[in-house]
Amino acid sequence: MCGIVGYIGPKEKKEILLDGLQELEYRGYDSAGIAVIEGKKLSNFKAIGKLKNLREKTKSYKSEGFGISIGHTRWATHGKPTELNAHPHLGAYSYVVHNGIIENYQNLKEELQKDGVTFLSQTDTETIVHLFEKFNNAMNDPFPAFQKTIEKLEGAYATLLITEAAPDTIFFAKNGSPMLIGFDGEEVYFASSDTPIIGKANEVYYLEDGEYGFVKEGKVTLFNEEGEKNFTKQALTADKISAQKDGYRFFMEKEIYEQSHVMTDTMMGRVLDDSIHFEELDKDFFDDIYAITICACGTSYHSALASSYLFQRLGKMRCDVEIASEFRYKEPFLTRKTLFITISQSGETADTLEALKMAKTAGMKTLSICNVDNSSIVRESDVAILTRAGIEKGVASTKAFATQSMVLWMLSLYLGQVRETVSEEILKREIDAMIHTPKALIVDEKLHAKLTRLSKRYLHGHGFFFIGRDIFFPLALEGALKLKEISYLHAEGYPAGEMKHGPIALADSELFTVALMPKTMHYDKIKSNVEELSARDATILAISPEPFELADDFIKTQYDSHPMLEFFEMMVVTQLLALEISVRLGNDVDMPRNLAKSVTVE
Ligand code: G6P
Repeated sequence: MCGIVGYIGPKEKKEILLDGLQELEYRGYDSAGIAVIEGKKLSNFKAIGKLKNLREKTKSYKSEGFGISIGHTRWATHGKPTELNAHPHLGAYSYVVHNGIIENYQNLKEELQKDGVTFLSQTDTETIVHLFEKFNNAMNDPFPAFQKTIEKLEGAYATLLITEAAPDTIFFAKNGSPMLIGFDGEEVYFASSDTPIIGKANEVYYLEDGEYGFVKEGKVTLFNEEGEKNFTKQALTADKISAQKDGYRFFMEKEIYEQSHVMTDTMMGRVLDDSIHFEELDKDFFDDIYAITICACGTSYHSALASSYLFQRLGKMRCDVEIASEFRYKEPFLTRKTLFITISQSGETADTLEALKMAKTAGMKTLSICNVDNSSIVRESDVAILTRAGIEKGVASTKAFATQSMVLWMLSLYLGQVRETVSEEILKREIDAMIHTPKALIVDEKLHAKLTRLSKRYLHGHGFFFIGRDIFFPLALEGALKLKEISYLHAEGYPAGEMKHGPIALADSELFTVALMPKTMHYDKIKSNVEELSARDATILAISPEPFELADDFIKTQYDSHPMLEFFEMMVVTQLLALEISVRLGNDVDMPRNLAKSVTVE
């Protein structure tokens, strides 16, 4: 997480940095800061909270002439979100911004403190700037000093450093966190992703892990552990597909409403009349594959879990799903006959990316399902299938989840088709349901109004259980995650049949149960589970096509012909419920506290 921008050139730098940071604010919004060096003039501004505070603080500042500049928007890892902990961090004559975690910072800090260095912040980042100045004071040569600094760092970083000792140079390094360099003639940009530089630069180079160097007089000198390295720039798209709210109150709301039409894009060219087609996959893609392992985090993990039912049911293939941060350290047994799938909206999630690298090292075939082309995960995978959801701005993911779920459903059917584990009749039934999905995702205004009304009854209590069975269990997990992310209320997702093994002890009238009761999947079983809860006085919000007399509140859904249509329709209900509860509580729906859209730290 955290977003970094940098610029070297003659243009006004404040606006370039602030505009760039605006594009990266989804990566963290605990604080923001910029630093500019123009000849001998140093300027540095920081503000806690969202970028608008920094804008306000820098209102009367304007940079002039040629200079070097860096900016940062922070998601706090080490140290509270205070102004002192905001980047850029200052040494005696240099500034640094950093995204990632320096894992050995305590040792480095203690050594520096022994040398008499005073630290102003609690961050791991500040060690970089002091380390650099220590080496530069001894060597009086900034690049070797920077090189020596980088050698000392352990962990993940993307970092930019500027110093009065070299007022025409930006030093950079990348290892594990994303960073790219944009070019427009003599002018050079840095950013954590390409959106801040689209429309400004026309060529780009995506830095690889272990690369570092400096830029001076429009020329980038690049190194990796083997020494100086040549690199090839690529053209950068000129169109910024920037997202606007289009009259909706929040990006999240707009993105919920958009799900119907983005789903059509997701299916385009893939769902044909009588078959599933992926132009990304060679005919023999699944040859010699006997199992699937999927790795993901957060919402993406939930779409993976739902798909594990489908891969087994339709593709008749074993499918294990792992939380990426757990997978990495469990010393997993990896075999070449297992397909390794990663799922990620952003394509930058550090844990997912590292899991993918492990799989590649083990020689596994890798496939990613991602929403952002050219992201680290897409570039790292053998094959990528894009979800085509368009830019998702709301931190709480909605349309990304919907489109991931669709791609996975299509992929499991594709698997069934190539392995001939589905009959023509099933293939036809699934395709027919897929074609109806955009309809099931249309938000009914009356339903939305009802959920707005109902939301006022769910602002207190001691917690929520979202319950479901089969694919509706991962949907329950996702419904609970949505609610806690933006309402800050405690919510859990649970398999309905498991409630009796412990959680039912919590049941009383202040326990809210959101019951996903699809008609097409184990209706009678889940009905019994909900009855057990109702008998213990739990408050029941039932979502079902079938009226349920024990429900305290009831949301009637329309589709009752295919589980996936019920899945998508119920997904919309849980998203709107979370949204409206959050609105009533007065929370920031699009940028909820403590979260970030893209998590590039472990
Ligand atoms: C963060 C976001 C979640 C997201 C998760 C995984 O925690 O706030 O919404 O689900 O990261 O992100 P990814 O981009 O890999 O899907």
